[in-house]
Amino acid sequence: MAAAAGAPVLAPSAVHASPGWQPAFATPPADLPLTRARVRGRFPDALAGTLYRNGPAGHDLGGERYRHWFDGDGMVHRFLIAGSEVHHQGRYVATPKRVAETTAGRRLTEGFGTVFKDRESAASPDSMNAANISVLPLGDDLLALWEGGSATRLDPLTLQTHGIKTWRADLEGAPFSAHPRVEADGTVWNFGVSAHHGLLLLYEIGPDGALKRADALPVSDLPMVHDFAVTARHLVFLLAPLVYDATRREAGASFLDSHVWRPEQGMRALVIDKHDWKQQRQFELPTGFLFHIGNAWEEDTPAGTVIHLDYARSADARALLVDAREVMQGRLAGTPGPRLTVLKLHLRSGQVLQTDLGIEAEFPCIDHRLVGGRHRHVFHATSTVGGLPMWNAIACTHVETGASQRFRFAPGAIVEEHVFVPDASSGSSPGWVLGTVLDQASQRTVLSCFAADALADGPVAQATLPYALPLGLHGAFVSGAAVVSEKPT
Ligand SMILES: [Fe+2]
Repeated sequence: MAAAAGAPVLAPSAVHASPGWQPAFATPPADLPLTRARVRGRFPDALAGTLYRNGPAGHDLGGERYRHWFDGDGMVHRFLIAGSEVHHQGRYVATPKRVAETTAGRRLTEGFGTVFKDRESAASPDSMNAANISVLPLGDDLLALWEGGSATRLDPLTLQTHGIKTWRADLEGAPFSAHPRVEADGTVWNFGVSAHHGLLLLYEIGPDGALKRADALPVSDLPMVHDFAVTARHLVFLLAPLVYDATRREAGASFLDSHVWRPEQGMRALVIDKHDWKQQRQFELPTGFLFHIGNAWEEDTPAGTVIHLDYARSADARALLVDAREVMQGRLAGTPGPRLTVLKLHLRSGQVLQTDLGIEAEFPCIDHRLVGGRHRHVFHATSTVGGLPMWNAIACTHVETGASQRFRFAPGAIVEEHVFVPDASSGSSPGWVLGTVLDQASQRTVLSCFAADALADGPVAQATLPYALPLGLHGAFVSGAAVVSEKPT
C-alpha cells in the first residue's frame, strides 16, 4: 500500500468513540512502505543511522477490536536518518498468530488482555505472542521483543520476519522479556517470568549474540515483572504485588486478568549475584507499581555496598489494569502518572531508603554507555495534560539533585519514548535525545532531535511523516549509514 503524501493511512475504527487522539490506537491496515518525511533543520552527524521502534498496532481485525492496548499485533518501524533526509518504514511482525489470523480474517486466539468468546485459548505463551513491545539489535538480527514468550528475528534492513529466536533447544518458547540490559561491552542480560510455574528465567548473552548462561530459578509469589536492572555485580528486580492466580486462568480469565493486585503484600526488591544466581536477597519496600527502571549502580562504602536505583513509580497498577483498557474505547481513566523515585538498598544492613523526586516520569532512559554504572541524568517523558493520553513533554532529570529541565511540545502532542544517542565525533558534545510524538492537531507523527543538555531550547531538527502512527512503546538507535533498500514513495 502506498502512502500518498498528506493522506491519513489509518482507517478509523467504528467500534468506539472518536476523540481527536483516536489515531493513537488505530490500526494501520497494512505495512507502511518506505516514505520520505518532511524535514526541518538538519539531524546531526551523530544521528546518521536508524531509529527502530516497536509497538502494538494491529488492534482491529475482522470487525473485532482488542480491549487492551498491549494486545495489538506488533509493528516495527525504522526511521532512516541522514542529515536533512529522513525516511520511515513500518512493517507488521509476521508472528504465527498474526499470519494465521490475517489469513483467516478474524482472531483465532486470545491476546494478553483480551479473551474472545468461543475462541481457542492459547496453547502456549507464543500462541499469543504479539512481538509488540521493543527491539534489540543483536548480531545480524533485529529482535522484536514481547514479554511472555520468544523474541522474534527480523531482517534489520527490510524488517522481514525470519522467525522465532531459540537460544537453546531446551529454552524453545521460553519467556524473554522486552527489557534486556546491554552493558558497555555488549554483554546482554535478560530475564523472563514463567508465571504459571513461578520461575524466573535469567539469560546472559555475549556481545556476539551467543548465549553464555541461562537458568530458571523458583521465586516465591513471583509477580508480573516488566523491567529489571543490572549493576557491576548484581541483577535487581522490583517485585510489585501484581500476583498470578492460576485459578483465575483456569476459569477463563485473560492472562492479564489472571493477575491480582495485592497491596497488602508490599513490594520487594530481589537482588541476585550476577555470577552465582543462587545467591539472592530480598528487601521489603512500600507497596507500589512500576513498568520501568532508569538504571542501577552500586557503591562500596565503609558501611557496605549500597545499590542505587531509580524507577518510575506508581501507587498501584491502574495504568495497566484500567487506563490501558479505557483508551481502546476512546476514554481516559485519568490515573495519575508515575513519578521518578530513587531507591537505596544497603546490602549489609538491609536498610531501604526511598525518595520520591516529585517529577512525573515514564519511559526513563539513560546514556546506554553507563548501564550498570553511575549515572546522573535520566531522560523521560513527563507532564500529563487533561484530555489526552500519555505525556506532553520530555525532560532530563538529575537523579541526585532532582534538578530537571524539560521541553513541552505544542498542545495536542502525545509524547512517546525518547532515547539518548551519544556523539562520538566530539568529546565535549553532551549527546542527543531522539524520539517521536503524535501530533493530534495535524494527525502526523513527528521525529525530533534535541541537544541533550538543552532540551528547553527545543528541537534542533524535526521530521514530519505524512501520516500518524499508532502510539508505540520502545525503540533503539543504531548508528551507521542507513540503507534505503527500496524506492521511497
Ligand atoms: Fe516497557
